[in-house]
Amino acid sequence: MIRRFDYGTPLPTDALVQEIPLCGETLPFFTVAKTENGLTFTYPLGREELIYGLGETVRGINKRGHIYRSWNSDEFSHHEDKQSLYASHNLLIFSGEGKPFGVFFDDPGEVIFDLGYTGADTAAITSVNGDLRLYLIEEDSLNAIVRSFRQAIGQCYLPPKWAFGYIQSRWGYAADGEVRTIVNEHRSRHIPLDGVCMDIDYMVDYKDFSWNKEAFPDLRQLSADMKQEHIRLIPIIDAGVKQQEGYDVCDEGLRNGYFCTCEDGTPFVGAVWPGRSYFPDFFRPEVREWFGKKYHGLMEQGIEGFWNDMNEPALFYSERGIAEARQELTKLLDMNLGLDAFFHLKDVLMGMQNNRRDYASFYHKYAGQQVRHDRVHNLYGGFMTRAAHEGLRSYDPDKRHLIFSRASYVGAHRWGGVWQGDNTSWWSHILMNLKMLPSLNMCGFLYTGADLGGFSGNTTEDLLLRWLQLGVFTPLMRNHSALHTRDQEIYRFGMQEDMKNILTVRYALLPYLYSEFMKNALTGGSMFRPLAFDYPEDAAALRIEDQLMLGEGCMIAPVYEQNARGRNVYLPEDMLLVRFRSAEDYCLIPMEKGRHWIDLDLNEMPLFIRKGCIVPLSRGGEWVEAVDFDTLTLLGWLDGDAAYAIYNDDGTVAAPVLADGLREIRVRTADGKAAAEAQGLTVDAAKLIVG
Ligand code: NOJ
Repeated sequence: MIRRFDYGTPLPTDALVQEIPLCGETLPFFTVAKTENGLTFTYPLGREELIYGLGETVRGINKRGHIYRSWNSDEFSHHEDKQSLYASHNLLIFSGEGKPFGVFFDDPGEVIFDLGYTGADTAAITSVNGDLRLYLIEEDSLNAIVRSFRQAIGQCYLPPKWAFGYIQSRWGYAADGEVRTIVNEHRSRHIPLDGVCMDIDYMVDYKDFSWNKEAFPDLRQLSADMKQEHIRLIPIIDAGVKQQEGYDVCDEGLRNGYFCTCEDGTPFVGAVWPGRSYFPDFFRPEVREWFGKKYHGLMEQGIEGFWNDMNEPALFYSERGIAEARQELTKLLDMNLGLDAFFHLKDVLMGMQNNRRDYASFYHKYAGQQVRHDRVHNLYGGFMTRAAHEGLRSYDPDKRHLIFSRASYVGAHRWGGVWQGDNTSWWSHILMNLKMLPSLNMCGFLYTGADLGGFSGNTTEDLLLRWLQLGVFTPLMRNHSALHTRDQEIYRFGMQEDMKNILTVRYALLPYLYSEFMKNALTGGSMFRPLAFDYPEDAAALRIEDQLMLGEGCMIAPVYEQNARGRNVYLPEDMLLVRFRSAEDYCLIPMEKGRHWIDLDLNEMPLFIRKGCIVPLSRGGEWVEAVDFDTLTLLGWLDGDAAYAIYNDDGTVAAPVLADGLREIRVRTADGKAAAEAQGLTVDAAKLIVG
């Protein structure tokens, strides 16, 4: 059951698709009071109470003990003290002594989540706007709360099947020849690959929808040649539109009044990669339609996927910021700088970027009003994704396209996926990647993944190898790195054979991963869940932060420490350990419930299958379309008959029907042997362990 409580005059956010009538009762659990920062909802935490949710954030799966701030931020340094990343997903789920409950603070402005930070026994959530809708979700279990919320916020975005393949990306790929080389290097070594991302370097002066005709003399041909190789090109699009007379996007936007404005109605100017830029007012349907159709130009060159970036929106500086900094610098640089003045100088320069005063200085036309940006800040990126989604759909209404974004709010999960932003080549960021997965799933974002190998900093080959061992399971599996960092493509490393072998596991597991993605996407379930959600009565499972349930039958527990040759794992029930070196080289080890040390050499990764469940394994392929979903080996440890509902479709149909794609694999066990059957599938049950 979901109940709605309104405070002040809430602005629409489009987070929900379900109409939930206003509840006339008093909000239970919380006390509500006006405080100096806004409107604060206070809740006393039980000693052992756990808190889940908040989607894309640093720190634990259990969010208790830190302060988080919903304020979409261009934050390239994901330290554990950071309060905000690129997205705002304002769902909390409290799991204490009584029945668990969820709360969604539907507020597009800044919201502060003090979850046992100021006082260990208090959660205080403050809406700075003071105008919001609060939805209280009460169901019998944690998984039921998520399903109920997900039903209310609508079905998540569905990528095409090819987008489940491995994608190579790097800030710096700047020419046709370079893209071809990368693809050749993968194909000649039989390293699986389905996509190559094109970062801002393909553009002319970082202008959206332009491409450098010298570096890419025939983009259509490149794209066609790549498609022959089963590779899709995935260009980036940024939120800021370069201020330049004669640039069609700029001229049209100005002529039609499509950009965000200052209070006096003149277009707001902020700087990003192209220098001074305008920002489309994605809050307006006609602007979304205009911008969305701009993607068609690249689609006419054969492009089927995009990533949307810098859409918090990131602002390097504004006219105001530059003017003030100039004044201050002139003063400071004439001084003999001591401690305070020196740090002030640094602040003056750094403070120009993503400055709060800039976010309070421009406006949208939204819901029939002129709305100051900071009141609705967290919607901007999601509405850009919406523009792209609608644009891609209008190009080809029957087809799924790839689109993933950096910034988002709940609701944007219906229009695209998200990647987890600019992480670093640190071991701790493998774990951060893992912890975000279930939280993002709760908030509707199923198509997600992190920059494998790490974005900033120089990776090491063992780090990339271990990170790929987690990436095998994430729907978006992309290796991406920053300009000027060490080359990070698999073929650059001595351990490339091991990395390639790990990729074969991804492609072999695709029938399971795609089935679990689609079944959960179409029914409002989570592909990744904390152990606590599936084993709520198991005290040990409640506190596990480095293992996840994956789909119906699996648990994952990757290695995330350098030089480790194994790890501790907690099994909440009997499970079959599959220790993979490659899709063909693996061993099966039945293990009992409890704590175990698992040996895992650098080239080995574990997958745990719940006793009684079946996981179908294909023979793999070097690209997604080559994977035969109909010829399968079944893995599992059974003590009776079992079944698995496998899902498949053509991978592109825009509105798939779950029932049409499902096929039941049935296994009968007798005399220590298993026999399997499934309509239209060839299944080999020889690897099933019975007993
Ligand atoms: C910031 C993005 O997060 C990153 O992935 C990208 O490479 C750079 N912008 C350059 O476009």
